[in-house]
Amino acid sequence: MPFNQFIKKAAMLAVFILFTTIAFGQGRTVADFDSNWHFHLGDVNGAELTTFNDAKWRNLNLPHDWGVEGKFSKDNPATPEGGALPGGIGWYRKTFIEPVSAESKKIYIDFDGVYQKSTVWINGHELGFRPNGYISFRYELTPYLNFGGKNTIVVKVDNSVQPNSRWYSGSGIYRNVWLVTTNKVAVSHWGTYVTTPQVSEHSAQINIKTSLLKATQGKVDLETSIVDESGKTVKSITSEVKNTDDTASIVNQNIEVSNPILWSVERPYLYKVISKVLSDGKVLDTYTTSLGIRYFNFDADKGFSLNGKHIKILGVCDHHDLGSLGSALNTRALERQLQILKAMGCNAIRTSHNPPAPELLDLCDKMGFIVMDEAFDCWEWGKVKYDYHLYFKQWHKRDLEDQILRDRNHPSVLIWSIGNEIPQQGDTSALRVAPELAAIVHSLDVTRPITTANDRPDTTNKIIKSGAIDLIGYNYHEFDYAKFHDRYPGKKFIATETTSGLETRGYYDMPSDSIRIWPSNFGKFVGNPDHTVSAYDNVRPPWGSTHEATWKVMKKYDFLSGFFIWTGFDYLGEPTPYSWPSRSSYFGIVDLAGFPKDIYYMYQSEWTNKPVLHIFPHWNWQPGKAIDVWAFYNKADEVELYLNGKSLGIRKKTGDDLHVMWRVKYVPGTLKAISRKNGNVVLTQEIHTAGAPAKIELIADRKVIKADGKDLSFVTVKILDKDGNLVPDADNLVNFKLNGNAFIASVDNGDPVSHDSFKVNYRKAFHGLALAIVQSKETPGNINFTATSKGLQSAALTIKAK
Ligand code: GAL
Repeated sequence: MPFNQFIKKAAMLAVFILFTTIAFGQGRTVADFDSNWHFHLGDVNGAELTTFNDAKWRNLNLPHDWGVEGKFSKDNPATPEGGALPGGIGWYRKTFIEPVSAESKKIYIDFDGVYQKSTVWINGHELGFRPNGYISFRYELTPYLNFGGKNTIVVKVDNSVQPNSRWYSGSGIYRNVWLVTTNKVAVSHWGTYVTTPQVSEHSAQINIKTSLLKATQGKVDLETSIVDESGKTVKSITSEVKNTDDTASIVNQNIEVSNPILWSVERPYLYKVISKVLSDGKVLDTYTTSLGIRYFNFDADKGFSLNGKHIKILGVCDHHDLGSLGSALNTRALERQLQILKAMGCNAIRTSHNPPAPELLDLCDKMGFIVMDEAFDCWEWGKVKYDYHLYFKQWHKRDLEDQILRDRNHPSVLIWSIGNEIPQQGDTSALRVAPELAAIVHSLDVTRPITTANDRPDTTNKIIKSGAIDLIGYNYHEFDYAKFHDRYPGKKFIATETTSGLETRGYYDMPSDSIRIWPSNFGKFVGNPDHTVSAYDNVRPPWGSTHEATWKVMKKYDFLSGFFIWTGFDYLGEPTPYSWPSRSSYFGIVDLAGFPKDIYYMYQSEWTNKPVLHIFPHWNWQPGKAIDVWAFYNKADEVELYLNGKSLGIRKKTGDDLHVMWRVKYVPGTLKAISRKNGNVVLTQEIHTAGAPAKIELIADRKVIKADGKDLSFVTVKILDKDGNLVPDADNLVNFKLNGNAFIASVDNGDPVSHDSFKVNYRKAFHGLALAIVQSKETPGNINFTATSKGLQSAALTIKAK
């Protein structure tokens, strides 16, 4: 393209960037830098050079994960443990114009996460290399930019050496990228540290440490304001900052807020801290930090309290992938996951086993989740051949510091975890490393306890002896919780990981009342030939336990401050108890597509105030077969079950029961459950024997989405019989069609064994359900979505993008 044409196009792009700027205050812009990258899969010589011609490369918008676009294969070097999807090397290039007016500014590029081993160049100049795929990092571009001309940013991503992960990592610039422009005098990167040294209902002391970067001699003022949710300034303080130099100087300010509204999981109230840098009244920078005012405590006897109120941490562990979207970050997809978990009563997330996307922490702040923010899955000893242990010695200090600096202002973050299941047998280095990591964390934040997730009593003892941790973290061993106090008098407890229950949504083996330990013997495992696992919460690996067994112990003792169940959602990779052809996990309470498994309702019945009655399985069996019918319920004394109008008896939970059960000789018809309290009906639920698949039903989670090119509508596809009953074994192939400014971002059905691509516009149902994810473009309008399937009545719905 001739240069003047390029300038014209780029100027239009620059205008576009201005409009997509997500955050700006006077003196600073933070522009979304995700659109219009050129991408090439495979290594290329000289692609970092400005003269390189990338015209033939694919044009795409970030965040981008090329792995999930690839084919599942057992031969992919990631192995089924890593999701059986391809890795490789990928190159990204983007050209942009910086206006001449920006010459006096400082310009940075912020990457929230690139998996992995990224090298970045600006105009042919190498800015740096970051091996850690989960860390956020910034480069300053200013000295290398052409102001008023074309600039080229190039990123090489190397995820070719595999296996380097025990789960699906994804590949590419899979999180957001930002272009940040500031004046020379500005708040530095992650430059505020806001703490609340004293909090009560009556008042809160807020301490704000602000790191200022300046390049001129002389004085500036730092005005810091606390602003409430209505936008009202609650209090302000201004400090004069004299004679700072090029290095950052820290300004210490204290503000008292009267009658603060405290941040809690029920009411996650957020204030804003707005830092303004002023010179003779002119605003040089505006920087916003969100603030949740809260206090919390872990007590050796009484467990966890938030704002003086005892609550249990009811958490789940999750990996970072978003199912069929792969690891490509999408804020709405994350928010949906959190909404599903919140509706279950979950109040905490463990970011296993790496720093999360910053959007996850923003959402947890806003939605009221407690976060255990984890740094590493390995230290000096690796778990798979090419994982981060290869880089640990050189990079752990920088990576851990960056994580703490980035995340320490989030009110949701209440625990730092410096590692998962370290050390392994024979690893003595870990006992030297643990205190070193703890010291790094403590040098940057002393307001939260540090833990490690320990999988064995001997390593737990060693880690405790090393003095590195404040909270003792147990992975599994729920049968040992009762002995914890005798073993570790005066110590504080958190179950960093539990359960690992195994389930396929919608699949049931009879009978249900015996526990199956799979793999029963490592290496000698025989499961179901079709790689299904029964969904009765009675299948677990040897190191795990069932959901019910774990929760029974957890709820019994106050000193158990809480737990993180492995896992909230199924994730790509680690298909225990199977391997290929399985390629995603069975551990989730919710499947990969976001459809809850039955056990979800056990938690909902225990953890929420919502009335729950959930009976299962489906009612399509061989006549005469003995079927176990389970009910999870709450807010009632009893449940009565009827088959075709005839009572099969009343069941009541006794002792620590979490469900009731009937063994029923199957005849087709209607199964009806009624829960009652003092003889009054609380809820009823009916399941009908379904006939042949006849029609499709579509349910969009949201019918109005933003026309911002990122927002999503999750459309659930149900296969029904002619009377509207879900057909429990339906696997009909459904084709999707879209009209309007949108596209199908991915499709799924939650089947851990399917090798069909996620990136097509058709999907087979799995146990009667499938999912299509509709993504907006940047033009408003109606999106008409149609689903058809051979022999079935089709369905359509309209989604509005505005
Ligand atoms: C744990 C480990 C997790 C996951 C889980 C599966 O020991 O910390 O990452 O592998 O086992 O049960």
